[in-house]
Amino acid sequence: MRMVDLILKKRAGFELTSEEIHSIIDGYCKGAVEDYQMAAFMMAVCFTGMTYGETAQLTDAMLHSGEIVDLSDLPGVKVDKHSTGGVGDTTTLVIAPLVAACGGTVAKMSGRGLGHTGGTLDKLESIPGVNVERSVDDMRDIVKRTGVCVIGQSGNLVPADKKMYALRDVTGTVKSIPLIASSIMSKKLAAGTDAILLDVKVGNGAFMETLEEARELAHTMVGIGKHLGKRTVAVITDMNQPLGAAIGNGLEMWDAIRVLSGKVQKRDLLYEVCILLASYMLLLGGIAQTKEQAEKMLNEAIESGRGLMKLRELIEALGGDTSYIDSPERLFNTRRTLDICADKDGYITHMDALKIGVASSELGAGREKKRDKIDPAVGILLKKRIGDAVVSGESVMTLYINDESRLTEALELIDAAYNIGAEPVAPPSMVHDIITE
Ligand code: URA
Repeated sequence: MRMVDLILKKRAGFELTSEEIHSIIDGYCKGAVEDYQMAAFMMAVCFTGMTYGETAQLTDAMLHSGEIVDLSDLPGVKVDKHSTGGVGDTTTLVIAPLVAACGGTVAKMSGRGLGHTGGTLDKLESIPGVNVERSVDDMRDIVKRTGVCVIGQSGNLVPADKKMYALRDVTGTVKSIPLIASSIMSKKLAAGTDAILLDVKVGNGAFMETLEEARELAHTMVGIGKHLGKRTVAVITDMNQPLGAAIGNGLEMWDAIRVLSGKVQKRDLLYEVCILLASYMLLLGGIAQTKEQAEKMLNEAIESGRGLMKLRELIEALGGDTSYIDSPERLFNTRRTLDICADKDGYITHMDALKIGVASSELGAGREKKRDKIDPAVGILLKKRIGDAVVSGESVMTLYINDESRLTEALELIDAAYNIGAEPVAPPSMVHDIITE
């Protein structure tokens, strides 16, 4: 099978066989297929797409390129959760302990932030002492003791994706539904889970900017899960403004602690999305039989403090200083703060998640390149959300700053990131669709 013929076949829009797809991925991992051939192939996929069957075969080939974690010795149904990435999206830090507090088993491998999106590992590491670079055996031990563990992805998982993603990043081939779906699902499936809950973000701060694209990605991933024998549900949630009010690593950890402490109003956007996602995890795990029952269990876990206790156990197991759970304000103790104030009376009509995410990254909360060092304390705290009334001079958001040299660019972005209009607008709905098998 010559690689050039397979590239030509895909370029002409024909469906590849399972054998052909496996030979491309095997060949690429073994070095028989060159980077430039793989780049040409992926560009052909960007233009001509893949059928569900091809995408499932691509996922399967990528999944088998490395180690597949076996968590079958852990008790209960293991349910993993994945977000396609957003701003102020600190759901994992709320949901993982909350689901464990309700009797679920959560053994999760997470990623670091890149560009404008935050990463769970960086947020966890904002607590001094936390070490997330653990082995799968460490994860297993922690889950046996506490029911929950979140660590960095094991180095041997899906090597095909590591090579392909690095190439996609520099060849303009990131944005393709079959490539995104196979990249995400191969990693989730390799991490040894029994069921998968996907949070597909849609909006200006997400990979998928339209609901149509988000639905297609969600259907593709749910279809792959079904094809490969894992129960999968996808929830499509809004990313036209940051999800949580806090953006930045320590700030987001503080926000998660706030939700778990029951200190937020029930209309809080982060709280609403966390309860929805966690309730589907309880359903997938067979712990609750109805959504209403799941929501009741989750609210009880918050009110009783059991959810927060699980987070404390997780932080302790990862070597972190748990005193920060009692005084999380210390996580964003920066040299100075700056309030961005409204210049007129009105209503917040627009809040650009992408610009706010990039501004927070500019302040030092994120990285442009993998090796960049981040500042865990800096970021942005939103005081107003879309639909809120505001009076002239009132704070719309507060910036937490350590390095003044980073401020000018962040301020330019912030200036263009929100709008105050004269007429009231309805807050956007947070949940757009739920895709099940
Ligand atoms: N996240 C992934 O893991 N892979 C993609 O291709 C895009 C987002």
